[in-house]
Amino acid sequence: MAKNPKIEHLRALKAQARLGGGKERIEQQHQKGRLTARERIDLLLDKGSFREVDAFVTHRTSDFGLDKRKYLGDSVVTGWGTINNRLVYVFAQDFTVFGGSLGEVHAAKIVKILEMAMKNGAPVIGLNDSGGARIQEGVVSLGGYADIFLRNTLASGVIPQISVIMGPCAGGAVYSPGLTDFVFMVRGSSYMFITGPNVVKTVTHEDVSFDELGGADVHAEASGVCHVAADSEPDALFLAQKLLEYLPQNNMEDPPFVDTGDDPLRREEALDEIIPDDPGKPYDIKDVIRLVVDNGEFFEIQPAYAANIVVGFARLGGHSVGIVANQPAVLAGVLDIAASEKAARFVRFCDAFNIPLLTFVDVPGFLPGTDQEHGGIIRSGAKLLYAYCEATVPKLTVITRKAYGGAYDVMSSKHIRGDLNLAWPSAELAVMGPEGAVEIIFRKELAAAEDPEKHKAELVAEYRQKFANPYVAAARGYIDDVIEPSDTRPRLINALEMLANKRDTNPPKKHGCIPL
Ligand code: HXC
Repeated sequence: MAKNPKIEHLRALKAQARLGGGKERIEQQHQKGRLTARERIDLLLDKGSFREVDAFVTHRTSDFGLDKRKYLGDSVVTGWGTINNRLVYVFAQDFTVFGGSLGEVHAAKIVKILEMAMKNGAPVIGLNDSGGARIQEGVVSLGGYADIFLRNTLASGVIPQISVIMGPCAGGAVYSPGLTDFVFMVRGSSYMFITGPNVVKTVTHEDVSFDELGGADVHAEASGVCHVAADSEPDALFLAQKLLEYLPQNNMEDPPFVDTGDDPLRREEALDEIIPDDPGKPYDIKDVIRLVVDNGEFFEIQPAYAANIVVGFARLGGHSVGIVANQPAVLAGVLDIAASEKAARFVRFCDAFNIPLLTFVDVPGFLPGTDQEHGGIIRSGAKLLYAYCEATVPKLTVITRKAYGGAYDVMSSKHIRGDLNLAWPSAELAVMGPEGAVEIIFRKELAAAEDPEKHKAELVAEYRQKFANPYVAAARGYIDDVIEPSDTRPRLINALEMLANKRDTNPPKKHGCIPL
């Protein structure tokens, strides 16, 4: 016990700040199955590492009797600490104080944290649980949001920004998480939407629940806004910690090397048998990924959205890599609007943060149809192309089977600065699949044939032998080597080490005009 009354006073104030909106509201938060802002921070950070700032800040509003309701720290807890001994900045909105609503000082506290994080080069994690703009503060709240949006944007590509949605996140408030690199959501207790169910009912006459409109699964599967959906708050925080293991602290650093103990020379015989004999048959590209990467550990991003393309982080020989892979088990791995945008965003994130890209290719092309054409597949496909073209990080490509048409070019081909482009003997690099090609180039011949079906089968076999293999491309140097699939892991790790000092640049410019 301190005898000094000033120290006693300080301790009392800090204890008061720690109670946020008070015991009763903390109890209400627990009854909803939710943790408090401080409990979340404790779970997220290394034990005892949290250093709080601005615990004495209070709002300056007197309208609607607010001058009689002040809480130390207002409705957000901010500071820094460590995760696995690495510095991170954190803010956690405190629902026990005015429903976590954002007014002038709440915004200023977040802005301070974002600016410190940018200046000192460390990630920011925002734990969101808020009723949105503090209604009593009016336009001042809106200004506060815009101050945050600006900092989110300036910090983009400088430090990793992660948002974990752990309660309501509605109205314009969604745009701060929307501007960050990764959005985590908790199933059953978090939601994000621009306008809530009541407004939706008035405007479109739709009856929709909070969860149906903006719950974790909706955003993880349908909108793609959520990158990782978790079953509980502790799970979401644990997954955010895991994600950080693959990322550098900022854009000037390389991602951390971790000795995973997995043999870099490990050959994997199972890969030699993984491609089905019938080129029309699917297989799961995630089986390939798991066999190749260190200890089979793959941190998938957006697993339930546009599952025809797989993206995520893993390690190869201890080095962090970003993996992009067509998924033959879903829609034959075709590229559509959603898959193109999902992959484009991921490629740009990896490039911004010096994370080498590994691309597995098995793609029959872009998805045909009016839906896709009218929806702008040209623009979306161009985004993926653009992202790969501008990326200067080491780029490794493995063509496992099909690389047809424009999709061949797009998927990290040699022509767009692929550093090492490998193919398995099962690879087929061609303008299109044998069936389609034969029907076009031999249309007249087939129409005149005695037995068109038999003749077509002969022509398909001939085409397949001539073009549907990796050797035509390899003869031109479009493929650097054709390898035995079982050698994939050692070859990739060797390539990563060979490329460790890669330097490549783009022409000087203010910024490019990616076809958004
Ligand atoms: C001030 C707010 C508030 C807000 C909640 N509270 N939201 N105070 N401004 N936006 C207060 C409540 O008055 C209440 O205080 C306490 O927080 C807890 O709220 P409850 O309603 O009791 O909690 P719950 O039943 O869990 O409901 C949570 C909620 C609901 C669904 C979030 O509070 C709600 O609908 N709030 C308003 C949401 C909203 O429309 N926000 C504006 C969005 S527009 P007391 O003291 O009574 O317990 C927006 C524009 C941003 O944000 C634009 C940025 C560019």
